[in-house]
Amino acid sequence: MSSSRTITLRSRSEDDFDVLFQIADDLTTWEERSEATPAPLNRDTYKARLAQLDADNSDKSVRFMIDVDGAAVGSVSLFEFDDLARHAEVGIALVPEARGKGIGTAAISQIVEFAFIRCNLRRVHLQVIESNTGAIRAYEKAGFVIEGRQRQHAWVRGKYEDIVIMGILRSK
Ligand SMILES: CC(C)(COP(=O)(O)OP(=O)(O)OC[C@H]1O[C@@H](n2cnc3c(N)ncnc32)[C@H](O)[C@@H]1OP(=O)(O)O)[C@@H](O)C(=O)NCCC(=O)NCCS
Repeated sequence: MSSSRTITLRSRSEDDFDVLFQIADDLTTWEERSEATPAPLNRDTYKARLAQLDADNSDKSVRFMIDVDGAAVGSVSLFEFDDLARHAEVGIALVPEARGKGIGTAAISQIVEFAFIRCNLRRVHLQVIESNTGAIRAYEKAGFVIEGRQRQHAWVRGKYEDIVIMGILRSK
């Protein structure tokens, strides 16, 4: 990635719907880590789902859009906050054109810094299927380590796969 690019995190607006829908509707990169059935999305259904998430933010999720030079390319979020143990889970997805250029690593590093410095968390963790080697590499570059795995926990495109658990601890 060119070092002259500016990668920023910002809040979501209605203008971001197309980018979010493009990512959510992309079955070729669907990550089978939830019980939801892989299926193409309907725009109205997805819009209602986003509105529902905004209305019921009981887990206090923090959701950012990722901009590169002012253009939205993806989203990154913190969710499943544990106020007592001071940790949360992170999730990220970019549009296909933005992948493999260092953008994901930079965005993950930024949200981890936000988690530690602004939210006073001590730990951020995530789950990823074992075949998603690009994501695992990006997380490692951002400082995450592999902490364990749930063996054959996910049914992914015709075969069982391990879910890899990764985490990063605040250093001070
Ligand atoms: C996962 C994701 C956020 C990573 O962001 P990204 O910008 O593509 O990642 P980066 O370019 O910062 O880093 C990717 C690294 O993995 C490497 N990589 C990519 N594909 C790889 C593969 N198949 N095998 C091994 N390494 C791979 C890249 O070379 C790079 O490492 P390097 O800088 O040492 O060369 C992005 O690819 C994405 O949105 N993917 C689809 C959604 C998704 O999988 N989300 C995560 C679910 S847990």
